[in-house]
Formats: sequence, structure tokens, C-alpha cells
Amino acid sequence: MGPLMTRIGRKARIARRHGAADVARALARKAVRLPLLLAFGADRWHLRGYHTTAYMKAAVAFARDVPLELDVVAEVGCGLGEILTRVPARRRLGYDIDRGVIASARFLQRFTRSAAEFTVGSFEELAGAEPEVIDLLVVTGWFHYMPDDWIKDRLRDLLAAKRVRYILVDEFPHQRGRIEPLMDLFGVQVERRRDWQDDKSLFLYRCDA
Ligand SMILES: C[S@@+](CC[C@H](N)C(=O)[O-])C[C@H]1O[C@@H](n2cnc3c(N)ncnc32)[C@H](O)[C@@H]1O
Repeated sequence: MGPLMTRIGRKARIARRHGAADVARALARKAVRLPLLLAFGADRWHLRGYHTTAYMKAAVAFARDVPLELDVVAEVGCGLGEILTRVPARRRLGYDIDRGVIASARFLQRFTRSAAEFTVGSFEELAGAEPEVIDLLVVTGWFHYMPDDWIKDRLRDLLAAKRVRYILVDEFPHQRGRIEPLMDLFGVQVERRRDWQDDKSLFLYRCDA
């Protein structure tokens, strides 16, 4: 089988596993989101939506299993809020450095009526936000690409400014063994899960034990 057929076969297997209803939802959302992302100048990566992305589904399920009633959830690098808006919490704070994606996320809220608060920014803005306690911080899909010292500095500064109870973070298989020693500096690993599609690992850390 040629590489093209191999790719098509893999996509078909993934689509079957997500199910026809989720594939249909994903296609409909892509059709709406493509012109929106183009209009706001946001990265087209965000066409990759929740319904056909196993790590996003795994992250939402993981967040829902956090052994705590979540009052405040924050996601840094939230994109369109595919994960954040599905986590039940009284307040959901989303930060992203991409102005276009935050503008797109806010525009989509007119239709979804999600109560998430989207802000252009990163860890610095979260550290300066008014909630003193963050029950769950989500940093998936990008954090694992950042240099070790950057990760250490950002987490050290944030944890000095706020009480952060849990952190949910992921990594790709080729990075295996990198995120854990960094996160071990700031908390205790509660659980690790794997996503079947990209073979990512997701880690939940408790930081205020
Ligand atoms: C691959 S997307 C992941 C979106 C979402 N977190 C997820 O897991 O589906 C990465 C997002 O992180 C954002 N990002 C990258 N570096 C960032 C930083 N230093 N601070 C805040 N957001 C950042 C990008 O703009 C992009 O929207």
C-alpha cells in the first residue's frame, strides 16, 4: 500500500472510532470556523476540533475526574476553548497569545453562550488575574514544546502568585520523560492517561498537597 492509501486508511480508522455523529459535527464546525479563523487571522490549526481529536476528549474527561468540585479553571494557550468550555466550573478563564484566536473564540460565544472569559495573554496575565485560587490549570497542546527553563520560570512565578491546586499537561511520545521531571519540581503526579489517536500522555499533577 502506498503512503497516500496508508494515510487514508488511518484517517478512516480514526473516523470510525470517533463515530459518524462526531465526524459530522467536526465537518460542520470546520465549515463555520474556516472563514472565521481567516477573517480574524487566527492559525488554521484550530480547525482541529474536539469531536475528532482524542487528546481533547481525554483532557476533558480527565478534568471532569479531578477529585474536587471545580470553582475556577484556567487554561493558558486555550485556543478556541475546545477543552476549557467543556469543563464544568463556576469560572473558566482562557488565555492565549494569539489575538486572532481569542477574537474568534469570543465571536463563537455569541452562538454557544459559553460563559468562559477569554483574554489575550499568557501566564503573566493569569498571575495578575483576581482569583487567588485556581482549582485546575490546563496547559495542553503547546506547553511541552517550550524550553525547560521557560517552563520552570513560568510555573515558579505563577505558583508564587496563586494557589494552583491541579495542573493538567500533556506531551508527545517522542518527548517521553521530559515533562515529568519538570512537573515533579512543582507537584505530585496523581495520574497519567494515554490518548489513542496521537499516543500523547496526559498528566494530572497536584500542586498544593
Ligand atoms: C496547539 S494549540 C492548543 C490549544 C488547546 N490548549 C488544546 O490543547 O487543544 C496551542 C495554543 O497555544 C497558544 N500559545 C502558544 N504559546 C503560548 C504562550 N506562551 N502563552 C499563551 N498561549 C500560547 C497558541 O496561540 C495556540 O492557540
